Amino acid sequence: MIAITGATGFLGRHLIAKLKGKPVKCLIRKEYPRFKVNITKGDLADKKALESFTKNAKVVIHLAAAIDPKDKEEYQKVNVEGTRNLIEACKKNKVRRIIFVSSMASTKTHLDDYGKSKSEAERLLLNSGLELTILRPSFIYGKDSNSMEKLLSFLHKFKVIPIVGDGEYKFRPVHVDDVVNAILSCINNKKSINKAYDILGKTELTFNEFIDTVCKKYNIRKRKVHIPLSICLPISSIGSLVTKNFPLKRTFVLSVKSGTTGSIKPAERDLNYKPMSFIKGLNK
Ligand SMILES: NC(=O)c1ccc[n+]([C@@H]2O[C@H](COP(=O)([O-])OP(=O)(O)OC[C@H]3O[C@@H](n4cnc5c(N)ncnc54)[C@H](OP(=O)(O)O)[C@@H]3O)[C@@H](O)[C@H]2O)c1
Repeated sequence: MIAITGATGFLGRHLIAKLKGKPVKCLIRKEYPRFKVNITKGDLADKKALESFTKNAKVVIHLAAAIDPKDKEEYQKVNVEGTRNLIEACKKNKVRRIIFVSSMASTKTHLDDYGKSKSEAERLLLNSGLELTILRPSFIYGKDSNSMEKLLSFLHKFKVIPIVGDGEYKFRPVHVDDVVNAILSCINNKKSINKAYDILGKTELTFNEFIDTVCKKYNIRKRKVHIPLSICLPISSIGSLVTKNFPLKRTFVLSVKSGTTGSIKPAERDLNYKPMSFIKGLNK
């Protein structure tokens, strides 16, 4: 039995589609009428539900997370404490194997609140004694991606496209199918135990190139305006004094500055990981 948290999310739905016909159990917070799998109702704060969810599981795939919550306390509550509760339930039910989908955000020099919580969850899992694999995707795109929808609505919203800093920082967006394949190839793969893998796309782009490619694909013709970090930083600091949920977070600005690097070599070697190019993924 494969027990999956976060199955109703963007990545989870793609994973479930690929696991069709396999024995699967999902931790679900609310009813999804079209979600026809074995479920345990509850959330990561509910220790009883987690105990029942992990019962008879051979492997747990932990995807559930707060990614962009209204209240930043949720990062700690869901991503850190929720993971702690899940570890406890796994131990109670003698589940040994866990695959954790973390994020490249946990590897930056300056961690934002999300990255901090993912890094803390990784640390808890590393110290848990469970047979752990950590996968760290970068920005995931593909059919029904929340992040891509948010980006597109942002690109449509303004007359120009505001970009934090010079936009020359590099990253490698990854298609959801590649992330799903990486997860699947960990399940019965002993080589991946107690390892962490960067799960990146094939194409490395600067943020400027990424925006240009997306705009071209969706026929958005707007000028990019780069806002120097020296201006973004004070704006984010003042904004956070005015309102708790100011969208431009200081930690985010600092994390942009530090960028992310990473390598898919370990995943290629152990997981037979062969990601697609950004153009191919965008046209899928
Ligand atoms: N999307 C990306 O670009 C990206 C990049 C790197 C890493 N990741 C990681 O990949 C994983 C999946 O991301 P995603 O894009 O699929 O996210 P998503 O669409 O926001 O889905 C999040 C999932 O977590 C569940 N969840 C949230 N809080 C929960 C709680 N307290 N208890 C139980 N379940 C809870 C949600 O359930 P409901 O349906 O009930 O809300 C949903 O199923 C996450 O761990 C994320 O950090 C994502």
